[in-house]
Amino acid sequence: MLTLNCACFSYGLVFRTNIVGEDLIVSLDPEVNNFVGEAFRMWYPDSIMRIIGADSIITTLGSSHKYIKNMVFRLFGPENLRRDMIKDMQKTAEASLLSWLHHPSIELKEAASSMIFSITAKKLIGYDSVTSDGKMWKQYDDIIQGLLSFPLCIPGTLFYKCMQGRKNVMKMLKEMMDERKKATGRQESIDFFDVLLEELKEEKHAMSENVALDLIFLLLFVSFETTASRITAILCFLSDNPKALQELTEEHDYIQKKRPDLNSEITWEEYKSMKFTSHDTAEPAGGASKDFMAFGGGRRLCVGADFAKLQMAIFLHCLVTKYRWKVIKGGKMVLGPGLQFPEGFHIQLLPKG
Ligand code: HEM
Repeated sequence: MLTLNCACFSYGLVFRTNIVGEDLIVSLDPEVNNFVGEAFRMWYPDSIMRIIGADSIITTLGSSHKYIKNMVFRLFGPENLRRDMIKDMQKTAEASLLSWLHHPSIELKEAASSMIFSITAKKLIGYDSVTSDGKMWKQYDDIIQGLLSFPLCIPGTLFYKCMQGRKNVMKMLKEMMDERKKATGRQESIDFFDVLLEELKEEKHAMSENVALDLIFLLLFVSFETTASRITAILCFLSDNPKALQELTEEHDYIQKKRPDLNSEITWEEYKSMKFTSHDTAEPAGGASKDFMAFGGGRRLCVGADFAKLQMAIFLHCLVTKYRWKVIKGGKMVLGPGLQFPEGFHIQLLPKG
């Protein structure tokens, strides 16, 4: 089931393409990548910039980059995860798993996306995906499909759909921003949008309305998409590797048994003791590779790495201590932009025997 249809099998590790409308050399060779990281300036194709926004953090340089990165880190870094998010992750994972229990089949990537989006959208823009229509993250489906498509922006093309997706999300975000600006008194709970608006008011040089909107646009997307793909890949792997699943389950059962109260909250110390889990979630499904740096190892490192690792560990804890699952269908992985599951990965969740 675990087939990786990687471009490198068809074209070699370094190949030339004009898939996004510009001549590109694609390298999947770690040695070449290390050299490129040192020797070249960072650049993204014009089509990618149109999708993620000209003011995105990923192309910001120097002190402006540091300033934005630090702001994101205050939300997604270990201190806030420990103080605040770990509880939300546990509550949300428990509630999601319980709601999957009565279904004959759950498509895991979609279900995990929805679960993670409900956490991050709340922290980022105060968006309650339970009481709202719950479909904002679905706009991102079209965006992902068109991310590496030929940039022909006419109705019917993938790129057009992708740009429509961006337009819709940006419109929602702009409306939210305008409403917040108009609102007088403070809200009870402060989210990342409020933090950005405060920075705007203070007229920090690296902050502008476009920077703030592009940042939220990107964070809303990368925070659920990457982590949900990884969770799906891990469950595919565990489904095919009973020994690894057993070892993982033993680790979590042991942590649970040591608690005076079985239902108490997962502590930061417990999380830190999940050695097997942290190894499994930090590596690509299927095992470690010295050349594979999941969260970036070149010029840029992932600001959400701590969040993603914690989210995966908490989800796995809640899953294997209470449930087991049966594979219904799917699980084939393809490297597109990120990890994709063209047939999905459908499982049935069952209570542990
Ligand atoms: C399993 C999950 C994830 C993986 C595998 C992953 C991977 C990566 C990688 C490889 C990079 C470096 C890209 C480059 O070289 O330009 C990166 C950057 C980034 N990631 Fe993640 N990521 C994950 C989760 C997240 C989450 C949850 C967030 C948000 C909270 C996030 C936010 C970002 C941001 C904002 C950047 C750009 C950093 C910069 O330009 O300085 N990522 N990620």
